[in-house]
Amino acid sequence: MKEITLRVFRYRPETEAEPTFQEYAVPLRDDWAVLDALNYVKEEIDPTLSYRWSCRMGICGSCGMTVNGDPKLSCGTFLVDHAPGPITVEPLRNFPVIRDLVIEMTDFMQKLGAVQPWIIRDESDDDPHTELLQTPSEMDDYKRYSMCINCMLCYSACPVYGLDSKFIGPAAIALAQRYNLDSRDEGQEERLDVLSDDEGVWGCTFVGECTRACPKGVDPAGAIQRAKLIAANEAVKAFLLPRWVR
Ligand code: FES
Repeated sequence: MKEITLRVFRYRPETEAEPTFQEYAVPLRDDWAVLDALNYVKEEIDPTLSYRWSCRMGICGSCGMTVNGDPKLSCGTFLVDHAPGPITVEPLRNFPVIRDLVIEMTDFMQKLGAVQPWIIRDESDDDPHTELLQTPSEMDDYKRYSMCINCMLCYSACPVYGLDSKFIGPAAIALAQRYNLDSRDEGQEERLDVLSDDEGVWGCTFVGECTRACPKGVDPAGAIQRAKLIAANEAVKAFLLPRWVR
């Protein structure tokens, strides 16, 4: 059986040792992804290796890593595509590292929560059980943005977030658009406060790395441009038009 070398980032805070790379020879199988190789390392060679994964099928979003310099889902990145190797595996960039390939997600989760990712109903609708109907074409308006699996690859690819972690970032804006464009939602104005402030949509320089990195075709860069249009329209309405015209 042919082999390929994995160069894996190791960081163990309890040892106070500097981060280093450790090499492992793993079988080069056609059907193995980087995650399979890491699982082989953990089961057969070195049980101390730490990394996150769950579904192994591109659904849970937990196995994001930097593979040969690019943010990737390790369960969807095949060894043969990087043969003859070596394959360098590092944690996602732009996040603090907790241990080995495990990064700190708290900031990301807070950003998702800040855009109120749920349907905000019309307050005048006094019956919360009223069924809100939606046509297939209304659903098509936001469906793309609902495919996000929160894998954080877009934050790892984003140069703006890399320079300033206060930037709300691609996935949170795409998530806001998922609800802003939903015909059942009345929360655009509330989300606008977050999206249009200093750390909101205007920080994006539209280099499009987020869209390139996204494994689910969400197109966060497109979502950000649509969010900018909404924010700009609202700003025009608020500052240039007299109240009675709004
Ligand atoms: Fe779930 Fe890779 S393990 S997306």
